Amino acid sequence: MNKGEVEEYIKNLREKINYHNYRYYVLDDPIISDGEYDKLMKELLRFEEKYPEFKDPLSPTQRVGHVPVSGFPEALHRMPMLSLQNAFSYEDMMNFHTKIQKLIPEEKIEYVVELKIDGLGIALLYENGKLARGATRGDGYRGEDVTHNIKTIKSIPLTLIEPIYPNLEVYGEIYMTKKGFKRLNEEREKKGEPLFANPRNAAAGSLRQLDPRITANRGLDNFMYRVAFLNMEAAPFDTHMEVLKYLKSVGFRINPNIKLFNTIEDAYNYCVQWKDIKEELDYEIDGMVVKVNSLRQRQLLGFTARNPRWAIAYKFPAIQATTRVKDIIVQVGRTGALTPVAILEPVEISGSTVGRATLHNEDEIKRKDVRIDDTVLIEKKGSVIPEIVKVVKDIRTGKERVFKMPNKCPICGSHVIKLPGEAVSRCMGGMFCPAQIKGAIRHFASRDAMNIEGLGKKLIDKLVDMGFLKDVADVYYLDSYKLTNLERMGKKSVENLMSEIEKSKTNDLYRLVYALGIRFVGLGTAKILAMHFDSLNKLMEIGIDELLNIPEIGPKISDSIYEFFREKNNLTVINKLKKVGVNTERIKEIKVQDTLFGGKIIVFTGTLDLYSRNKAKEIVETLGGKVTNNVSKNTSFIVIGKDPGSKYDKALKLGIKILTEKEFMEMIKKIKI
Ligand code: IVH
Repeated sequence: MNKGEVEEYIKNLREKINYHNYRYYVLDDPIISDGEYDKLMKELLRFEEKYPEFKDPLSPTQRVGHVPVSGFPEALHRMPMLSLQNAFSYEDMMNFHTKIQKLIPEEKIEYVVELKIDGLGIALLYENGKLARGATRGDGYRGEDVTHNIKTIKSIPLTLIEPIYPNLEVYGEIYMTKKGFKRLNEEREKKGEPLFANPRNAAAGSLRQLDPRITANRGLDNFMYRVAFLNMEAAPFDTHMEVLKYLKSVGFRINPNIKLFNTIEDAYNYCVQWKDIKEELDYEIDGMVVKVNSLRQRQLLGFTARNPRWAIAYKFPAIQATTRVKDIIVQVGRTGALTPVAILEPVEISGSTVGRATLHNEDEIKRKDVRIDDTVLIEKKGSVIPEIVKVVKDIRTGKERVFKMPNKCPICGSHVIKLPGEAVSRCMGGMFCPAQIKGAIRHFASRDAMNIEGLGKKLIDKLVDMGFLKDVADVYYLDSYKLTNLERMGKKSVENLMSEIEKSKTNDLYRLVYALGIRFVGLGTAKILAMHFDSLNKLMEIGIDELLNIPEIGPKISDSIYEFFREKNNLTVINKLKKVGVNTERIKEIKVQDTLFGGKIIVFTGTLDLYSRNKAKEIVETLGGKVTNNVSKNTSFIVIGKDPGSKYDKALKLGIKILTEKEFMEMIKKIKI
């Protein structure tokens, strides 16, 4: 192929992929298999890599999200994104209609009814049929330019299908599916990160990520419902339904439940109908929107200062109830996080009895000022766990009690600490606390830690449940006779396990330091600590200031280490480990290859946001790597900051791995936070 043919071939591939995207996401009617689609995508990627001169930021391959940004520029909307007046009852809806009739008498009025998607308003600007900008609603006039993140949402077209009107701004809603929300919170729980309260907040948080790759993994979706045609006096359509049809035809996702009605009564009935079936949707809606269909009539009706006169939001009656807070208890999660939970006088909300509501953390309780014995308004939103909306303060008697986060873990009695920068309080007795013990032993025995083969999840769970393991050190006090009597434990496997356990006593210090499971102390940090302190005893005695003197250790890590060794229960476990002969001294020099960047040659280019060049170099060198100025085929990878220069192009050409500064940070995160 000559260059012209290559260009044409790439263009063709892109069009094909865009078309299949459309079939899949908009029409919900794919005509090729996922495998065939992947093949097209791979082919395109291959060509774009081989011929970087034909790269295009709007190519379907560019949806994964690239370099993180440091902030979002302001974006001015072409048409203000106003809010809607609300209707809560049949009367409200009739008043809306009567007002319209008065303003435009003798007109027959048709109404379109749509679902009111509980997400975030968004404005997408297309110039010459190409996505030029995606912006959040902001204050309605000015939002934030989140184009990078918008591009990662696969159901949003990057280029329009044969647009007759190439310049337009479309408006709609970005949302997270209930499934995606559940999955995201489950992942966050596992990692000990704070949970999102509902899909809407999760969608907002995801869209405002500075790193588009995070957004790309959050499973966001969209529905569009409005358009402004730029450089045109009036819209080239007569009705809203025609507009929607047009939008769908050029590639936008339009909600399939939109219906047209001849009377306000029918429109209202359709709204009410959704109250009961909305749970079946995989996304949340917080009401319905009733809109005048005729665009000419809309023009005549116009706007008030805040709302269009031609549309109204019907809000479903809130699923709320009032009840009394009997107590506030504290639950301890697997990562040691303490979560306050309100124990409620049981109350019925939409068919189920609610007896507790999470209060997330101490700050949240303070913000809402929830006290024991308070009467509270609670709300159940869709699939989400009930929340306390507010306290009914008028009826306080003065006898209500303010909740205080305990300074001892309610499960194991270890002390509780809120580390700098964290909203949650944590139990410091990780190696001992029954709420955390299974995870703690699993970590202790894992490959990078004490590396005890044969001591896997199932066996650990069983041994903890049977009371054989109460803390991490109990691993060395297991009785082989008792083990042999366990179901599915042959003599041979017990022997092997015992010898693995015995062997682990001679591990090098860094493994033990990592195995203790000190929060924020990953393998890299454990190695650095072992290099600095030579023995566990020295590390245990160290003060915060001395810890902070180590370049890789920030305040978060040092506080965490310091507090860990101040916990009596942890010291008991460590003494048990010492008594049984577990090595607590550094044995050998850490070999260069053992460290994170051992033997690696790294090049930095562009302006770094997070580190100075010197700092970055220092980090790499501490971790066994080398920093050079020039990209060559020996370069292991390059790290790019803002405005990367020719080194970036050279790395691309040589096919050298490229990391963003954020990715680089992720790599060393375990060491420096
Ligand atoms: S129409 C001029 N239609 O609800 C007003 N809005 O409370 C145009 N929303 O800011 C809005 N689904 O973010 C409209 N089908 C729908 C909607 C919808 C959700 C949001 C939108 C708007 C807010 C108004």
